[in-house]
Parts: sequence; structure tokens; C-alpha cells
Amino acid sequence: MKKILFRTTIAATAFVVFGFFSTPGTAQDINWDSVEGKQITLLYPGQGSWEWALTKSTHSGAAKFRQGKKCNECHEGEEQDIGNLIVSGEKLEPQPIERKRGFIQVNVKVAHDGENFHMRLEWTEQGINGFPAMDPDYETKVTVMFDDGTVAEAKRAGCWGTCHDDATGMASSSGSELKKYLSKSRVKNTRTGGGTNYKTDTEIAALAAAGTFLEFWQAKLNHSQAPVAVDGHILKSRDENETPAITVTSQFQHGTWVVVFSRPLEVPGDYRKAIVPGKTYSFGIAIHEAYAAKRFHHVSFEHTFVLDRGDADLVAKSR
Ligand code: HEC
Repeated sequence: MKKILFRTTIAATAFVVFGFFSTPGTAQDINWDSVEGKQITLLYPGQGSWEWALTKSTHSGAAKFRQGKKCNECHEGEEQDIGNLIVSGEKLEPQPIERKRGFIQVNVKVAHDGENFHMRLEWTEQGINGFPAMDPDYETKVTVMFDDGTVAEAKRAGCWGTCHDDATGMASSSGSELKKYLSKSRVKNTRTGGGTNYKTDTEIAALAAAGTFLEFWQAKLNHSQAPVAVDGHILKSRDENETPAITVTSQFQHGTWVVVFSRPLEVPGDYRKAIVPGKTYSFGIAIHEAYAAKRFHHVSFEHTFVLDRGDADLVAKSR
């Protein structure tokens, strides 16, 4: 009896110290030490929407952005300064949150095992106590959004292609609850966004069939609890799948999160992007830290990954 108790204690201690959790069916372990990572900086975006970025009177880069330049071509390396400016409330953020940080540095690694694609994200948490409980259920949420080259705005602006001025909490939000969407799902788009000028269901279905949507993966996190995995797509709105195809492992140790998303390279059914060699995938990362919700998150500009070979920020090799 005593022996069993002792064992239980050890196991429980190990659990708390290492705090390693996974959702069921997680793919095999990758030797991540052998994979080179890339440091990606996420910034606090405030109300800097897609339409804001396109407007000359609000954004100095608008003209060139309209001509085809990518956000990152002008802003790579400026994430910390931009994030610090916005989080202070000096620009684009009418409701600054005290003590919130302006940027988060995330180490990103990708790999595959012939069947599954894996993305590993590691970042150090800012203490989460004392921040407004916008989402009281989860301390932190981390999300990856990606496209396979079909959606032009994802290539040039990552997450910004889905972030509109009339979404909830944004500058032109008129009380209606709009989530993320792609402009192509609307009949008309203006400086304030596309509102509820939806295209017909038939038109939306045709867009989806042509791959005009972004896929997203999310891990909802609490210290010492298993992560909750969610995935879905963005076209007419942000829609979650009933059953996620992704699995997630998470670990929180010494103030640092390590989260690994795994997904079969190909998933049957609608609204899934096949991950195949020879394509360039654009992706963005978002972290809702310290019970944050909606726009009060940190986001990356656009980055790229490829499978096996090609020119991209990250190359997923077989491990
Ligand atoms: C052609 C270059 C260029 C492109 C492309 C560009 N920007 Fe900018 N952006 C600028 C310039 C210039 C400023 C003003 C900086 C300043 O005044 O110091 C700016 C300012 C900003 C700011 C406010 C921070 C500040 O310092 O004023 C944000 C946020 C921002 N850009 C986001 C974006 C996003 C998001 C995209 C892509 C959707 C983008 N930018 C594309 C050049 C660019």
C-alpha cells in the first residue's frame, strides 16, 4: 500500500513538474533538437485592420501595399517597435491594457514523418495574473492560420487578410458580432469592411471548392491541464469543425510553453488544405495571452513553410 502511494506521488509530481499533455492519438515523437527553428515576433495589432492598412490617410505603406508589397517586406524587424507603440495606446488601441506587453517572440519549428505535419511553437509567458478575464476559461490560446497559395491576401498579409474593420471590437464594428472573414465572401467591400453583404451560399460553396479559405488550428491552454484542440476554416466567417483533425501536445515548464500541432498531411472532407511537397504555404501565428479574447492578442506578419524542399522561412523535413 505504502509503495503504491509512493509511486502515485512520484507520478503526480512528474506531472506537475513536466506538465506534458497531449490530446488522444498524437503522432509519434519528433527529435526536435535536430530541427532548426526560426524566431518569429508577434506584435500587438490593436485595431489595425485590413482596410486600415489599405487606406493612405491612415497607413503610410498603403499605396505600396496596394501595388503588391507584402507587410513583411516593409516591416520585418519592426515588430517589437510597432507592438510597443500600439500596446501603449498611442496608436490604434483605444483600450490599452495595463502591463500588457507589446510583442512575443516565438521559436517555430516544422517537421513531418511521412504521414503527419508537425509545427512546434515555443515561447515564454508573461505572468498572467491580474489581467482582465475576457476569456475566463483559458489562460492562453495559440492559433496558426495557413493557406496553400490560393488566397492572395494570405500570401501578402497573413492573418490581416481576415481581420476586418467591422469585426467585433474593431473600429467600424457597429455592434453586430462579426468574426474573421475573407473579403471574397462579400458582394461589396468598403473602408469599413464587407459587413453582412454575403454572397449566395452557392457562390460561397464555389469559392470553398476552389480552395478559397484559410485553415486554422488552435490550442486552448491552461497550466497543468490537457490542451483543447480546435480547428476550422475562415471564409464567410470563422467556422470550427465538429471533430478536429489536429492533435496537440503542450508543456508548460519554468514559464515556457511548448505546443506541438500535428495533422495528417491530407485530410478527407471539405475545408482542409492538403500539405504536399512543392507548394508554398503562408501562415500566421496568434497568441491570446492572459485570458485575452478577440483583438487583444499578439499576431505575426506573414511567413512561409514548405514540405521537403523549396524556398521558405521554414522547411518541414522528414524526421
Ligand atoms: C511599402 C511599405 C509598407 C507595407 C507593404 C506595409 N506597411 Fe505598414 N507601415 C509602413 C510605414 C512607412 C509606416 C509608418 C511608420 C512610421 O510612421 O514610422 C507603417 C505603419 C504601420 C503600422 C503602425 C505602426 C507605426 O509605426 O506607425 C502598422 C500596424 C502597420 N504599418 C501594419 C502593416 C500591415 C499589417 C501591413 C500589411 C497588411 C503593412 N503595414 C504593410 C510601410 C508599409
